[in-house]
Amino acid sequence: MCIFIIVTNLINIRLSLTHNTGNDQSTSIDNKSDGYYVLPEECPIRNVSLAETPFPKTALASYPGSGNTWTRHLIQQATGFATGSVYCDSRLFPSFKTGECVFDGRAIVVKTHRWGEKTRSRYQKAVLIVRHPARAVLSLFNLMRAGFNKHTNYTAFNESGWHTFADREMKKWKNFTEDWLSNYTRKMHVIIYEHLKENPRQTLENLLKFLALKYSQRDLDCAIWNQNGRYHRHFALEPDLSKLYSLRQQLEINAYVANISRILRERYAIEWKFNNPWN
Ligand SMILES: *[C@@H]1O[C@H](CO)[C@@H](O)[C@H](O)[C@H]1NC(C)=O
Ligand SMILES: *[C@@H]1O[C@H](CO)[C@@H](O)[C@H](O)[C@H]1NC(C)=O
Ligand SMILES: *[C@@H]1O[C@H](CO)[C@@H](O)[C@H](O)[C@H]1NC(C)=O
Ligand SMILES: *[C@@H]1O[C@H](CO)[C@@H](O)[C@H](O)[C@H]1NC(C)=O
Ligand SMILES: *[C@@H]1O[C@H](CO)[C@@H](O)[C@H](O)[C@H]1NC(C)=O
Ligand SMILES: *[C@@H]1O[C@H](CO)[C@@H](O)[C@H](O)[C@H]1NC(C)=O
Ligand SMILES: *[C@@H]1O[C@H](CO)[C@@H](O)[C@H](O)[C@H]1NC(C)=O
Repeated sequence: MCIFIIVTNLINIRLSLTHNTGNDQSTSIDNKSDGYYVLPEECPIRNVSLAETPFPKTALASYPGSGNTWTRHLIQQATGFATGSVYCDSRLFPSFKTGECVFDGRAIVVKTHRWGEKTRSRYQKAVLIVRHPARAVLSLFNLMRAGFNKHTNYTAFNESGWHTFADREMKKWKNFTEDWLSNYTRKMHVIIYEHLKENPRQTLENLLKFLALKYSQRDLDCAIWNQNGRYHRHFALEPDLSKLYSLRQQLEINAYVANISRILRERYAIEWKFNNPWN
């Protein structure tokens, strides 16, 4: 996984001759120039700051375990603007401290795992991240408990309260995702986590366009270079999800995913691609 990312970056990354680190709020894209490569040491972790002129208040909404922190990191590294959060998590890395607990337009986007009318109505724009619930729910469980992995003892997993947790959380995933997709009436941009993983550069660029932010090709390259940036948790190898979820749970998840896929296709023209978790 890590090796794959590094190799594709070496192939893809080119340094634009004219780089633009300005931060005004219009969109501008430099053209790529061949023959230059950004080296990791040319991409230091950027310090970020809150905006002096407020942005439209924009949600970065996701069910937990769906890459919210990773996305914040990418935005921050590409733009130098701090992202915010409705939460106040003091354990986060320094670059997130600037925006933690900031939930107004000084932050370019505001992280939230909440849903419902009261939450939705607070934001003038929204970015929604969608990840397959089989993996998002497991990721949340892992975050809250010990790290289960490829070598998971499935019997012990069964006895850990996992099934009760999964039953409740997959319904939350459905409620959360349906509510934002069906009931939010203002401008919304949807990020599919699986597409972000597959093609982070293009996914990030589309997001920055939606946010009407200025960036250069170099900014994108460096944000991608720094993408693992100590924040991105991932399994070396995925555990066997068909053993972690009971057959009944698998069928329920499939039904939720089918419905969300349909909404994404019909209302957002997005074809959600993911690896079948039960293989
Ligand atoms: C970038 O390339 C496109 C298409 O080749 C061209 O239309 C555009 O003017 C170029 N932009 C700059 C800033 O050079
Ligand atoms: C970030 O800020 C620290 C402390 O002010 C400074 O030492 C460091 O060089 C800055 N990093 C960048 C990339 O500007
Ligand atoms: C969202 O809309 C659906 C119908 O699409 C409705 O059933 C549901 O109650 C709404 N949720 C909220 C929190 O308003
Ligand atoms: C785990 O629990 C599920 C559902 O309760 C059951 O079908 C499965 O056989 C159990 N697996 C193990 C390894 O205990
Ligand atoms: C797996 O966990 C069960 C229940 O906690 C335990 O009895 C069993 O010895 C464990 N198996 C292994 C291979 O560690
Ligand atoms: C999901 O929404 C339904 C219908 O509004 C509600 O009855 C249920 O309690 C919600 N479940 C969770 C886990 O949020
Ligand atoms: C999927 O959508 C259909 C039509 O809107 C609805 O009748 C069905 O209950 C939904 N299924 C699930 C699992 O949410």
